[in-house]
Amino acid sequence: MRSINTPTISQEYDEILIHVKWTAPTPLDLHQADGGLLVEPPHRTGSTSAGIVVEVGPDVKHFSFGDRILDGFSLEQVVTLLENLVTAFNTISADLGLPTPWPKPEGYVPPRAKGKVLIWGASSSVGQLTIAVLKLYGYRHSKGAEEVFDYRSPSVVDDFLKTYQEGDASAFPLIVDCVGSQAGSVDALFKVAQSGATIAIMLPVIFMHATEEEAPEYSMDANTSAPWAGGVSLEIIPSLIADGYVTPDRFPTKALDSFWKGMSGKKLIWRASEE
Ligand SMILES: NC(=O)c1ccc[n+]([C@@H]2O[C@H](COP(=O)([O-])OP(=O)(O)OC[C@H]3O[C@@H](n4cnc5c(N)ncnc54)[C@H](OP(=O)(O)O)[C@@H]3O)[C@@H](O)[C@H]2O)c1
Repeated sequence: MRSINTPTISQEYDEILIHVKWTAPTPLDLHQADGGLLVEPPHRTGSTSAGIVVEVGPDVKHFSFGDRILDGFSLEQVVTLLENLVTAFNTISADLGLPTPWPKPEGYVPPRAKGKVLIWGASSSVGQLTIAVLKLYGYRHSKGAEEVFDYRSPSVVDDFLKTYQEGDASAFPLIVDCVGSQAGSVDALFKVAQSGATIAIMLPVIFMHATEEEAPEYSMDANTSAPWAGGVSLEIIPSLIADGYVTPDRFPTKALDSFWKGMSGKKLIWRASEE
């Protein structure tokens, strides 16, 4: 194994330096390791991290030396709920265009409260959190998803349409694709989505997964909206956890190859520093 040392740069403006204690991989880490997606040297790996503030720039107002992220929860718990929750919020607010007022007004009734939302890949980390945030804002079923279909079923698209299609209107005016795979989700959703539907696809769209012999093929152009558009307020996250809308996971540390083989309903984490 080769180790690379890079100098620690002094913090300027509103920058903060965090001593990372725990990290959790997302599929982007895999795509970077397998296919170099969005890698521009010098590149630092790792996307979701939790740790302790060790230096702040002169313009920083809300953090100081020694601060931990989200007091009241262990860093180990919190790291399971950062980037994926931001992604879920961005998808709902920026891509689907649904308002996410915060603090949520008393008795809030969302627009399109009775509209059906299709979440493809609801067992994924982003899918679970998208359901949690929709539930928070009063979309449909109080227990989360109203009906669950198995994506492996060859008749899954027909089953959706048989159950929900009424007349010419789109059966699902709002669709979230939490998988972003040409063969695994996009091809099916193409048949489900009709005129007037808004679809948010998690990027990248995967045309081909990496194999032992072949490099993966991705596209960052889903011809739809961008999941990473801004507009998320991080101060929402502590309340979501405290009020029980989302629950931090606690799972044992595992290696990236476990992630490569596929995880279901779990979030991998690992310790980045023993100090
Ligand atoms: N995590 C983030 O913060 C983040 C940020 C931006 C974009 N994204 C993108 O969003 C997508 C999901 O990320 P994630 O972190 O939520 O992934 P994840 O938790 O690793 O997703 C794994 C889940 O996806 C399900 N799945 C796999 N193939 C499927 C298919 N063809 N149809 C339906 N479900 C399928 C699996 O279900 P089974 O076990 O039943 O097979 C498994 O439960 C990725 O494409 C990622 O690049 C993620």
